[in-house]
Amino acid sequence: MDGIRTRWYKDAFIYQIYPRSFCDSNGDGVGDIRGIISKLDYLKELGVNAVWLSPCYKSPNDDNGYDISDYRDIMDEFGTLEDWKEMVAGMHERGIKLIMDLVVNHTSDEHPWFIESRKGKDNPYRDYYIWRKGKGKDGKKPPNNWTSRFGGSAWEYDEASGEWYLHLFTKKQPDLNWDNPKVRKEVQDIVRYWLDLGVDGFRCDVITYISKREGLPDGKFNIGAVGDEHFTHGPNIHKYLNELFTEVLSKYDCMTVGEAAGVTIEQAQLYTDESRGELDTVFMFEHVEVDRYFRMFPKKLSLPRLKAVFAKWQLGLRDKGWNSLYYENHDQPRSLKRFTGDYGNLRKEAAKMLAISLYMQQGTPYVYQGQEIGMTNYPFKSLDEHKDVVIRYVRKALGVFEPLLRKVVLKVMNIRGRDNARTPMQWSAQENAGFTSGTPWINVNPNYKEINVEAELADPDSILNFYKKLIAFRKNNDIIKYGNYKENYASHKDIYCYERWWHGEKLFVLCNFKNKPVEFKATKDLAYETCELKLHNYGYDRTAPEDMVLRPYEAMVFLIK
Ligand code: GLC
Ligand code: CA
Repeated sequence: MDGIRTRWYKDAFIYQIYPRSFCDSNGDGVGDIRGIISKLDYLKELGVNAVWLSPCYKSPNDDNGYDISDYRDIMDEFGTLEDWKEMVAGMHERGIKLIMDLVVNHTSDEHPWFIESRKGKDNPYRDYYIWRKGKGKDGKKPPNNWTSRFGGSAWEYDEASGEWYLHLFTKKQPDLNWDNPKVRKEVQDIVRYWLDLGVDGFRCDVITYISKREGLPDGKFNIGAVGDEHFTHGPNIHKYLNELFTEVLSKYDCMTVGEAAGVTIEQAQLYTDESRGELDTVFMFEHVEVDRYFRMFPKKLSLPRLKAVFAKWQLGLRDKGWNSLYYENHDQPRSLKRFTGDYGNLRKEAAKMLAISLYMQQGTPYVYQGQEIGMTNYPFKSLDEHKDVVIRYVRKALGVFEPLLRKVVLKVMNIRGRDNARTPMQWSAQENAGFTSGTPWINVNPNYKEINVEAELADPDSILNFYKKLIAFRKNNDIIKYGNYKENYASHKDIYCYERWWHGEKLFVLCNFKNKPVEFKATKDLAYETCELKLHNYGYDRTAPEDMVLRPYEAMVFLIK
């Protein structure tokens, strides 16, 4: 449908696949495209109508594919471009759109552009990246004090040319120089290439970092993120995004979602305002930072704070942009426990409650692989079990103090670590959870015998079957899509209660976030003629949002007319 941009993403329910950990078809322990193909019917039955696929391009895998060495081909471990084409065709046949990850803030240091760039100051590709002279007499100090998002300096010294290059992530992920028009043209060509192959959209990796402030000034003191103010929403970001939109994206019926750490409502409005032509949606981070000090160190979740963030975004982007709804992705720990506390033997109830709490809101919903069966964090016993590149940085930063601090660091990593979400998808109670017939690249969560797709399919009351119901309920539901948002009892520390209404109809959403019974007092101004219970995580035995004692994690949705 070239040329006509529809807003299909407003009706989408998107499933995120982290290909390395989804399904392995050939027994090498690594998930792959043919594995995904074998699960397309599963996705269709779940009811999702789009997939966001984390990077599957050629990559030396320093950061599991977020370091790309060839933007136009598929990673050997994942298969071939032919497999990929078969996968897209299979998705489209089933009414599932495909959103690819677009990682263009940086490339791999093994990308031909960087290999050339590194050859010397006169190389035509030199200016594709950000090279600078160092400070100090001999230039052996980094050009500024910016830090990599993973820790340490964001600069790497190159002996041959005596200059430094910038890498906001690992040193194998050099940042592209977006101020160079040739780089922007290359990105346009890559995007066009995939759109012409049938891709329906892009999740734009750390897209808010692409424009760096001229002169690259030192950043102010900022734990773990020095320099932020000079490259997050940098000076030319809107111009560059608008250019990409005008030149390429606007000509296709596609959608974009920008990963936007630290984004405020005001900025998100600018990025997603349809009349400006930049991005369609963004992923904000505020709700996944309410249980963190300095965005990093775990702290106890405060429900009123979480609710305040939701309310702020629901109201703030209303009619001005469009929200994305998520609790999990490949960078976040699992949502169970994190948002529910200790659920004991109420895993099912807790997982369903979380789904209700989020997915009745306005915006495009995302579900991350395994979330729909209530997968949990992994019980790491040592730092060696964490495969994430982040751990390398953490250990390096600790240096000789590591043995001393190991216990604390392990504790923090076990709560926060990205590998919690990257353990293999649990398909069955068979060996390795049915993920692979070989040795998985990362350990399978030992709870796979109880928590797996096969068991979930067999149990009519399972989390998975609840997700199916919820996804079906959301489909074509104008109240959820367009309705207003109002929160009740904003300061209540256990109850999350909100209303959505549209053209005389209302959804009344009531969730108990606590693992204990909690008393609910009916809202006074709620008048109605009919009240129907649409979703419930306990036996569908409630009739109206009246005074009641909510059971642990009880959650329900009423349709009120
Ligand atoms: C994004 C990705 C993350 C990756 C980083 C660098 O935040 O989601 O997995 O490590 O970008 O590309
Ligand atoms: Ca494989």
